[in-house]
Amino acid sequence: MMADLGGPQPREEMAAKVRRDAEQAAADLAWFKMIVPDPATPEVVAGTVTLWSHHTDDGPISEIGWMVLPRFQGQGLGKRAVRMLLARARDESRWGVVHAFPATSNAASNGICRSVGFRFVSETDVAFAGRVFRTNHWSVDPGTDLA
Ligand SMILES: CC(C)(COP(=O)(O)OP(=O)(O)OC[C@H]1O[C@@H](n2cnc3c(N)ncnc32)[C@H](O)[C@@H]1OP(=O)(O)O)[C@@H](O)C(=O)NCCC(=O)NCCS
Repeated sequence: MMADLGGPQPREEMAAKVRRDAEQAAADLAWFKMIVPDPATPEVVAGTVTLWSHHTDDGPISEIGWMVLPRFQGQGLGKRAVRMLLARARDESRWGVVHAFPATSNAASNGICRSVGFRFVSETDVAFAGRVFRTNHWSVDPGTDLA
């Protein structure tokens, strides 16, 4: 799961991270959505897709990220979930242009960007969890670009 994200995160930091995420979701500051493949079994969760905004040296940006558990990968769920969340952003006129920064080596994530309608911007270095990654910067305007 974390191969393209620098490996597992420290277990002892997870409770605080989930608490922060839950607080942000409750305050509607970010969208943290679980991917439920079959509405008849809502307890079966395949992964998450998240949309949030944060500050960069170039100002505030909206960013999207995603994860699909290994046994659910390669079935189109990631692509469908990302497309659904971007369609919601479009329908609610929220978030503006949305950016994604998958590692250059992350074939499946770059595949999602390519097939959902993102445009390639440039290669760029991004810091995540104390490490620097070479990433592909992609952006999409959900109002006009969704494939
Ligand atoms: C990245 C990830 C979310 C992809 O989810 P998924 O549900 O397996 O992806 P999908 O089945 O929806 O495939 C999306 C696209 O990528 C392509 N793809 C999927 N796996 C691929 C692979 N291993 N190599 C090349 N292309 C791949 C698919 O063909 C599809 O493109 P298409 O529509 O043109 O056919 C999943 O692999 C994952 O969670 N990885 C670990 C965590 C991670 O890296 N998160 C992202 C950080 S940016």
